[in-house]
Amino acid sequence: MASKSCCRTFTALERVLMVLFVLMTGVSVGLIIVMVVSRSSDTTDLLTTTPAPPPTEPEKPKTSEKPKPSEKPKPSEKPFDSSYLIGVGRADCTGPVAEVPLMGYASPDQTAGGIHTRLYSRAFIVANNSERVVFVSAEIGMVSQRLRLEVLKKLQTKYGDLYRQENVVLSGTHTHSGPGGYFQYTLFIITSKGYIKPSINAIVNGIVKSIDIAHSNLKAGRIFLNKGEVENSNLNRSPHSYLNNPEEERMKYKSNTDKELVVLKMVDLDGNDLGLLSWFAVHPVSMNNTNRMVSSDNMGYASYLFEQEMNAGSLPGQGPFVAAFSSSNLGDVSPNTKGPHCINTGESCDNINSSCPIGGSNMCMAMGPGVNMFESTKIIGGTIFNKAKELYRTAQQEVTGPLNAAHQWVNMTDVTVQLNATHTGKTCKPALGHSFAAGTIDGVGGLNFTQGSVEGDPFWDGIRDALLGSPSNETQDCHHPKPILFSTGEMNVPLPWHPAIVDVQIITIGSLAIVAIPGEFTTMAGRRMREAVKNELESRGSLGQVEVVIAGLCNIYTHYITTYEEYQIQRYEAASNIYGPHSLSAYIQLFSSLARAIAENKVADLPKGPEPPFFNNSQLISLLPLTPVDKMPLNTSFGDVLIQTLQSYKRGEVVEVTFVSGNPRNSADTAEKTFLTVEKYENMTNSWKVVHTDASWETRFHWIKGTGGQSNVTVEWHVPSTAHPGTYRIQHFGHYKERPNFIPVIKPYEGSSGSFDIYN
Ligand SMILES: *[C@@H]1O[C@H](CO)[C@@H](O)[C@H](O)[C@H]1NC(C)=O
Ligand SMILES: *[C@@H]1O[C@H](CO)[C@@H](O)[C@H](O)[C@H]1NC(C)=O
Ligand SMILES: *[C@@H]1O[C@H](CO)[C@@H](O)[C@H](O)[C@H]1NC(C)=O
Ligand SMILES: *[C@@H]1O[C@H](CO)[C@@H](O)[C@H](O)[C@H]1NC(C)=O
Ligand SMILES: *[C@@H]1O[C@H](CO)[C@@H](O)[C@H](O)[C@H]1NC(C)=O
Ligand SMILES: *[C@@H]1O[C@H](CO)[C@@H](O)[C@H](O)[C@H]1NC(C)=O
Ligand SMILES: *[C@@H]1O[C@H](CO)[C@@H](O)[C@H](O)[C@H]1NC(C)=O
Ligand SMILES: *[C@@H]1O[C@H](CO)[C@@H](O)[C@H](O)[C@H]1NC(C)=O
Ligand SMILES: *[C@@H]1O[C@H](CO)[C@@H](O)[C@H](O)[C@H]1NC(C)=O
Ligand SMILES: *[C@@H]1O[C@H](CO)[C@@H](O)[C@H](O)[C@H]1NC(C)=O
Ligand SMILES: *[C@@H]1O[C@H](CO)[C@@H](O)[C@H](O)[C@H]1NC(C)=O
Repeated sequence: MASKSCCRTFTALERVLMVLFVLMTGVSVGLIIVMVVSRSSDTTDLLTTTPAPPPTEPEKPKTSEKPKPSEKPKPSEKPFDSSYLIGVGRADCTGPVAEVPLMGYASPDQTAGGIHTRLYSRAFIVANNSERVVFVSAEIGMVSQRLRLEVLKKLQTKYGDLYRQENVVLSGTHTHSGPGGYFQYTLFIITSKGYIKPSINAIVNGIVKSIDIAHSNLKAGRIFLNKGEVENSNLNRSPHSYLNNPEEERMKYKSNTDKELVVLKMVDLDGNDLGLLSWFAVHPVSMNNTNRMVSSDNMGYASYLFEQEMNAGSLPGQGPFVAAFSSSNLGDVSPNTKGPHCINTGESCDNINSSCPIGGSNMCMAMGPGVNMFESTKIIGGTIFNKAKELYRTAQQEVTGPLNAAHQWVNMTDVTVQLNATHTGKTCKPALGHSFAAGTIDGVGGLNFTQGSVEGDPFWDGIRDALLGSPSNETQDCHHPKPILFSTGEMNVPLPWHPAIVDVQIITIGSLAIVAIPGEFTTMAGRRMREAVKNELESRGSLGQVEVVIAGLCNIYTHYITTYEEYQIQRYEAASNIYGPHSLSAYIQLFSSLARAIAENKVADLPKGPEPPFFNNSQLISLLPLTPVDKMPLNTSFGDVLIQTLQSYKRGEVVEVTFVSGNPRNSADTAEKTFLTVEKYENMTNSWKVVHTDASWETRFHWIKGTGGQSNVTVEWHVPSTAHPGTYRIQHFGHYKERPNFIPVIKPYEGSSGSFDIYN
């Protein structure tokens, strides 16, 4: 026995050393690459030729000159008494679609390898007299502190103090199929293969451009609110945590998830449609962690359907009408409505640990409602879209009244909470519990962790201690009963692993309050917050009946926030509640104070709070190697067809064509462009008309990386039942890298399939 335990310890130590070695080697190789090639990569940028041509010219925002912040609205824009100025805008924020880790499941194998749907930032500006508020919903995993700071910096340069930290809310839809790499804290840097400039640049530019477009579109209009329940589209993925909430509280609600969809309908004074802004609580994880294509997932599909319907005849991502489906208190909410089942035996694993008799927690997964992830995305997104359409059509309750914006930075590691008359509690330095590593029924962790563990595992604690040191007693006590896996608040090398300074923010539009949550609130956490803010606004102010919405994943990412009772169960969400058991109470206290300031008209008196850090670019390294020189098979060129389409297809079938390709990362800025087109031959004009791009639901763009710099692109067109019979072709656009005379050069290429026919 002794020798066995000796040898296991030895093996574990060896493994620790190997991990350390690999990490260190990875970092130093990364550093060396960055240093050695930084000069040549600059050259690369300069020599980059024009990227793939867009199918049509993107609309240009007319904001090249800096508007004077004090500028009065033009006479034609002057609102009537009962109207606001409303601006809506949408811009592409897709970013690099190859090799960058997708942000959400933290699965190292899940790197980008193509596009199913493009990602967009959608901006809504509401202005009244000298006040204005901006809400942005971007199709990304979450907004990071770095991303927000970069966006605000650009807005400051362009608009002065018009759009600033107080009145701009940035929210992520929480799709788990968007590129990562836009974080300044170490934990996220590691899981993103570093700080990836093309990734963050694409998102910053997309968000700012969407605001530019909304700004240039401002016109007098009206806002109507409506809400209703969406059935069969979500379930609670930690029902055992929810059940630990007090019974009298649970009795107030008929479900353990929120079903309500809140929509704002925006129209101009003639009643012409401008935009839809909505909130619903569900994780966009219909696409599971085996997906490699960039995708906006279920909520993105709802936006897609709404915009396609309102912008009839436009390609996806084009046309003036903007429809956003924003995240809400989705922390414990799954779209995988068939519920958790053991994938090996088929039995239910709806138990406290989400664990299967054979294979443990790694076998326990939720899927559905469709037969595959594409169908599930379509069903969930479609259901939400249908409800939104009905609510939009029937919206009658007009939103009127003054606009308010309140914002503070808070040191979340150091908030004292008044629990009752005699007792206080404190928030903690950030730390992740053991069950964090278990993952969820929407994406399991892969190691042998289980949810609901309130005791550490000596094996993993040993590895952790050897690699990173053990958590302090202070932090362990503060987080009790969470067994700490990573004491991230005590890890500061090379940069802090988690943030301390966090944004809290509320904007109001008349009697609608938008509470900007810096993470993922569970269902009950959201309900408590809404009630607290509503009470504060209604009891003190003149706002009358107030509607409070929780906007999720805003401004900075701090993982999950559960109720104190849910925290005790220590499932995934609670283990990821990084500031400890009193986090929710602290946030309720902080947001209530913002609400009070708004109600009492004292926003100007709110202390600004400690500024968040802005780490030097030189400290934010990329671990993603530069793209190699692209190679093609003998006797072929980039863009050549390797596998041709068939001669003809029926509707409902899948057209497929494979091209010799370059690495899509070589296409530097693909915003509002496309890697592919599906084109129909127009008899009358003797020309090809683009009917789909890579933003279309019907197309799938797969990049398949081979060895030695060779790669292929396969384009699929899932021919819809609405396709017109006729002659079609598929084109592919890309860039390849070559290195004549040792200097890398990026060159564009294109290729086309043969023509093929579509029959009824
Ligand atoms: C599951 O949870 C229960 C209650 O917390 C615990 O006693 C049990 O050991 C857990 N099972 C596993 C496999 O972790
Ligand atoms: C993801 O969905 C696909 C079907 O689209 C399925 O084959 C696969 O097993 C799922 N994987 C996980 C981890 O859920
Ligand atoms: C604009 O704000 C004023 C007070 O600041 C308010 O009286 C008016 O109702 C607001 N406009 C709209 C459309 O609500
Ligand atoms: C946050 O508060 C803690 C505890 O008081 C303090 O040690 C830390 O320096 C503060 N962090 C920042 C960034 O101000
Ligand atoms: C106040 O809260 C503490 C800690 O939760 C509890 O022990 C105490 O009984 C509470 N006191 C009252 C008066 O509710
Ligand atoms: C996880 O695996 C390690 C190594 O095989 C083992 O020592 C440890 O006991 C396991 N933990 C659990 C909870 O099964
Ligand atoms: C932490 O707690 C353990 C057990 O309670 C104790 O043995 C140890 O000395 C403490 N460490 C420090 C640094 O206080
Ligand atoms: C970061 O930038 C500041 C200002 O440019 C400079 O003073 C500081 O030395 C830099 N720190 C590092 C670690 O590069
Ligand atoms: C490449 O082209 C050359 C000249 O046409 C021909 O001799 C050779 O067989 C071709 N190789 C392949 C692999 O097709
Ligand atoms: C295309 O045009 C030719 C003459 O321009 C005509 O004969 C033919 O019927 C047309 N085909 C279709 C499918 O419209
Ligand atoms: C590209 O496609 C060709 C033709 O099917 C195949 O032979 C080759 O292995 C593929 N290369 C890669 C990198 O997938």
